[in-house]
Amino acid sequence: MAYFVWRADYSVGDERIDSEHQHLLELAELLRTALRSGRGRQVVDDAFQALAHHVAKHFEQEESLFEAPGHPGCDAHRAEHSLFREELLELQAEKRLGHRHVERELTNWVESRLVVHLLEEVHACASRGTRP
Ligand SMILES: [Fe+2]
Ligand SMILES: [Fe+2]
Repeated sequence: MAYFVWRADYSVGDERIDSEHQHLLELAELLRTALRSGRGRQVVDDAFQALAHHVAKHFEQEESLFEAPGHPGCDAHRAEHSLFREELLELQAEKRLGHRHVERELTNWVESRLVVHLLEEVHACASRGTRP
């Protein structure tokens, strides 16, 4: 059974952003499963690459929306994105170095960082009364 699952209350009210967020959770789930089942290095590395690639792509897409008026706090949001990219690369490096507990760290990262960020976006959109 999938651990990271999209929920209706994660919706920011924009189909494109929602489907990207949903995809990120699916990729995180694939990576978690690969780590958990002890899949080979190449499979885990590919899953890390896919998640990192789509996280970066999603952040770029979101940041391009910041150019529009009515987006207070976009510098802080951008800074948070940079931090997330670094944290994900660190996790990947830890796995390559053979660290244990990377699956648990990934799970913590998704729950306490990625999902929390996503919910902040939901609240920001709701309080602005706008879409992303
Ligand atoms: Fe974001
Ligand atoms: Fe987002």
